[in-house]
Amino acid sequence: MSRSPQGQPVIFQAGDSDQGRDLGATIGEGIFTHAASIAQGQAFCNDLKGRAAAKGRDPDEIVIMPGVTVYVGDTDAEAREIERDLQTRDRDFGRALAELGRPFAWHDFRQYDLDAPFPQEALVFAERGLVRTRYASTTLRGNLGLPVPENRYTKARKSALLRL
Ligand SMILES: Cc1cc2nc3c(=O)[nH]c(=O)nc-3n(C[C@H](O)[C@H](O)[C@H](O)COP(=O)(O)O)c2cc1C
Repeated sequence: MSRSPQGQPVIFQAGDSDQGRDLGATIGEGIFTHAASIAQGQAFCNDLKGRAAAKGRDPDEIVIMPGVTVYVGDTDAEAREIERDLQTRDRDFGRALAELGRPFAWHDFRQYDLDAPFPQEALVFAERGLVRTRYASTTLRGNLGLPVPENRYTKARKSALLRL
């Protein structure tokens, strides 16, 4: 059986404890994290990549994937005001359901019966080009810009040859 095009599946890790970070630095290729601020995200990235380098890995071969929430206003102060408003305003279920539509061009999910199966017609936004359907590479590894790991048997053969 030949090797898969991406060599091996991409290994993702998420976890923020000391052991979790070490695990990610040891084997992770895609690392999920929350970033409450740019500074916090950069600190996490530097820490993780520093740990990976200390373990002999190339830090560029790890993709850090922060989950971010973006607030947009005409000025920084206005964006902060919108953030404060959204975080402090009473949260009700209908409002949360309405906000679910935000990444789908404000599709109104409140119109569906929550106890019924999800209607197929709600998937038309995929056809309207709101969801990415084409990628540059044919593999997830390629689209993340990660290198194909060397086959362990090839690697073992090469080091055996070097020892000769
Ligand atoms: C940014 C982030 C994202 C996570 N995403 C998931 C997830 O999608 N599914 C899941 O089951 N656990 C998820 N977790 C939980 C961790 O994978 C899991 O709780 C882990 O054991 C925590 O390790 P830690 O003690 O190093 O934080 C996530 C944790 C973090 C920090």
